[in-house]
Amino acid sequence: MRDTLRINGKRLLERLQSLGEIGALQGGGVCRLALSEEDRQGRERVIGWMRELGLQVTTDAMGNVFGLRPGQEKGPPVMTGSHIDTVRTGGLYDGNLGVLGGLEVVETLNDAGITTRRPLCVAFFTNEEGARFAPDMMGSLVYVGGMPLEEALATKGIDGEKVGDCLDAIEARGSMSVGNPEVHAFVELHIEQGPVLEESGITIGAVEKVQGISWTELTFTGTSNHAGTTPMRLRHDAGYAAMATATFVRDLVNRIGGDQVGTVGYLDIAPNLVNVVANHSRFTVDLRNTDNERLKQAEQELADFVNQLADREGIEFERRTLARFDPVPFDLAMVDRVESAAKALGHSVMRMPSGAGHDAQMLARICPTSMIFVPSADGISHNINEHTEPADLEAGVNVLLQVMLDLSE
Ligand code: GLV
Ligand code: MN
Ligand code: MN
Repeated sequence: MRDTLRINGKRLLERLQSLGEIGALQGGGVCRLALSEEDRQGRERVIGWMRELGLQVTTDAMGNVFGLRPGQEKGPPVMTGSHIDTVRTGGLYDGNLGVLGGLEVVETLNDAGITTRRPLCVAFFTNEEGARFAPDMMGSLVYVGGMPLEEALATKGIDGEKVGDCLDAIEARGSMSVGNPEVHAFVELHIEQGPVLEESGITIGAVEKVQGISWTELTFTGTSNHAGTTPMRLRHDAGYAAMATATFVRDLVNRIGGDQVGTVGYLDIAPNLVNVVANHSRFTVDLRNTDNERLKQAEQELADFVNQLADREGIEFERRTLARFDPVPFDLAMVDRVESAAKALGHSVMRMPSGAGHDAQMLARICPTSMIFVPSADGISHNINEHTEPADLEAGVNVLLQVMLDLSE
């Protein structure tokens, strides 16, 4: 009976679309930056659904939300979940699929009148994206004890606002102490956000590991001067330094090759005028690799380049690490469970690494963890055109259902 149980794809899509109305952007996609008014509305909607489904909802002091479904026995639940915050140019599925897929699993079990042996839990974690407040995966990092709560609450975002103040402003700070509830095992369903599954014609990814992530913020301070009269030899150009570094990053990752990727995604320059040499630039460098040694090499080469560049250009700089996570391998038995469940359901499946960061990589510190990926059309994500075919969404949630049932016995 449990093996033949299937989720309701139409109901899943309706919830995804409904949540996607909050923070909807012109032309599609959503903007629900962490702890924004849109995040507040999104939380309200998802918590409402959790209550309708009979889940016992608790919120911790970091704003992480847990919906518990009691089992026949007490004890730590089998947990699933993800995040509902998005980047500024987010799609409907990144994070949201993992949370709403979890709710769909719960509703399917409710309809079938099944009470699992272990309790189940559907969670969403605060500020997974890190687009407003660094580091990414902040809520789950605090939950697993990898960052002190006070440090997270004091973190300032790109707008100068503090996490703690924003949590209070949207009434998202809960009374439960962080680290609760305890967890038996964690499995996260997510869109791949890359091209591999689609290119391979495969429906399910059994995620074996998440690559290492290194985020650095660099601020250059030079001297403003007249663009026409200042000889090149007398310039202290913070704008040039930012762009030379961006070019260096691209050349560096090409040279390292393999899985190495690098991105300069944020740049702020001042006074930002056509005829003034810039005296200020601030930008970020996102470096990632599945191989930690190569990632360290890339970080070192970047640091050396910036030191020499600042020296040559006669400018000051400040360096801040915004995020640094080593590559994370998932529990092999958990990866096997995902692979077996996909095969049993008749889906094609491959083992693969994750290029994106996920809450699961934090949960892996405290319990057996793995992830289920479904294909992203054209490999596009963090883009309003992010799309996954409904049949693939449904396939992913059916795999999630079977893995959770398996883990709950
Ligand atoms: C989170 O989405 C990340 O991988 O940057
Ligand atoms: Mn995500
Ligand atoms: Mn994301």
